[in-house]
Amino acid sequence: MKATAKAHTNIALIKYWGKRNDALILPTNSSLSLTLDGFYTKTSVHFKEELNEDVFELDQEIVTGVAYERVTSYLDLIRSFARTDLHAEVQSTNAVPTAAGFASSASGFAALAAASTKALDLDVTDTDLSRLTRQGSGSACRSIYGGFVEWKEGTRDDGLDSYAVPIAPQEHWDVRVAAVVLTAREKDISSRVGMKRTVDTSVFYQGWLDSVPHDLSEIKDGIQVKDFEKVGSIAEANCLKMHATTLGATPPFTYWHDTTMAVMQTVQGLRADGIPAYFTIDAGPNVKVLYLPEHEEKVQQTLSSTPGVTDVILSRAGSGISYV
Ligand code: PMV
Repeated sequence: MKATAKAHTNIALIKYWGKRNDALILPTNSSLSLTLDGFYTKTSVHFKEELNEDVFELDQEIVTGVAYERVTSYLDLIRSFARTDLHAEVQSTNAVPTAAGFASSASGFAALAAASTKALDLDVTDTDLSRLTRQGSGSACRSIYGGFVEWKEGTRDDGLDSYAVPIAPQEHWDVRVAAVVLTAREKDISSRVGMKRTVDTSVFYQGWLDSVPHDLSEIKDGIQVKDFEKVGSIAEANCLKMHATTLGATPPFTYWHDTTMAVMQTVQGLRADGIPAYFTIDAGPNVKVLYLPEHEEKVQQTLSSTPGVTDVILSRAGSGISYV
């Protein structure tokens, strides 16, 4: 009753920003991401008769506290789905440099869902797996697939129609992403808390929601015809709108640091020099930059020499879940 799965993280080009149901993790809007090759989690799950509680090891260290609770309550969900009360030993390794500012929760929950369902020999489709993964971490449901992926918000109260669907595979288009590292410090306001506060209080929240369907349909057209400027500019504008909602919340907040803005200006400067590059930012200060392979050297150099940047990690489009 053991299985090992590998899942890559993803970067949202159209952001998931807000829940309509906190318990089931149902979003207020559909989102779209690119799965990234450079960052992944590998997880083994071993269900054993002799265990009377779950054990969670991350990068060879036993985990306790909140991170452990999140894993064990996720395994409770899998146990109730599988109608078993067996406990498990979970061993994960993260090839997501924590410093890269990528939520390792996306690759982490996708790998955990895949390995635990496989270990229990459950007959799940990719759609089932995406729905199950969503209940661990929303953005993780997109990591089931490689390439460009849409998470459909769905309309049902039970969440059965809220899952990810592949839009274009990894091989469709060689778009690259530079993760620009500014700080490895934990952010003060988690995505969970930040989204809840904006949904509940931001005077700009309705504007955000109204704008997403158009962004989504336009970016999907851009992806199909490989129009980089279209895709990049929609992603950048969508990210700015998401971040604008935080300024309209009570109390207001922002994830940006001064260095975040410096990198945004560097990217605008690259464009002024004729290099198509576009930024996006998740719920934290670090910036991700989209570019095409022919501009890799220039983009990397320019980003690295921006004051405040501590590292630039490059990635290509990645694949979906695999079993080891
Ligand atoms: O799934 P969570 O709770 O890590 O939230 C992710 C939220 C954003 O990263 C800001 C946007 C997204 O779609 O990934």
